[in-house]
Amino acid sequence: MSVTASKRETEISLSEVSMHDTIDDCWVVLFNKVYDVTDFIQSHPGGAEVLLEQAGRDATLAFQQAGHQSVSNSHLEPYRLGTLPKAEWFDLELILKRKRNSFLEPSSLSP
Ligand code: HEM
Repeated sequence: MSVTASKRETEISLSEVSMHDTIDDCWVVLFNKVYDVTDFIQSHPGGAEVLLEQAGRDATLAFQQAGHQSVSNSHLEPYRLGTLPKAEWFDLELILKRKRNSFLEPSSLSP
C-alpha cells in the first residue's frame, strides 16, 4: 500500500484487496475505489451473503446490477480506504458497451 499526500490518494492493488475476503475482514472495489465494508456487512440492506460473495474483489458490476440507484457517494465514502493503481482501473463504460455488443452480435455466440 503506498500512501501519498492524503488518505484519499492511498493506492491499494487488487492483489492486496484479495487478501481481505472474509466476514471479519471484507474489502471490495467499487468504481476503482477500495472500500472496507467489514463493519457494514451485517447491516447491508441487501444482506450479508451478497456482499460476502464479492469480498476481496471488484464488485462494480454486481453493485450496478443489484440496483443501488438510491445509494450515493456519501453512503460509500465512510468505508473508503483508497484507490486502485491506475493500471488496474476497470473501465465500466467499455465493459458495458462490449456486453451490449455481444448480445447484439450473433457471431459472438459461436465458438
Ligand atoms: C459499500 C458497498 C455497498 C453499499 C453502501 C450498499 C448499500 C445498499 C443499500 C443502501 C441498499 C438498499 C437500497 C437500494 O436497494 O438501493 C442496498 C441493497 C442491495 N444491495 Fe447493496 N450496497 C453495497 C454493496 C453491494 C454489493 C457489492 C452487492 C453485490 C451484489 C450488493 C447487493 C445488494 C442487493 C442485492 C440489494 C437489495 C436490492 C433490492 O432489494 O432491491 N450491495 N445496498
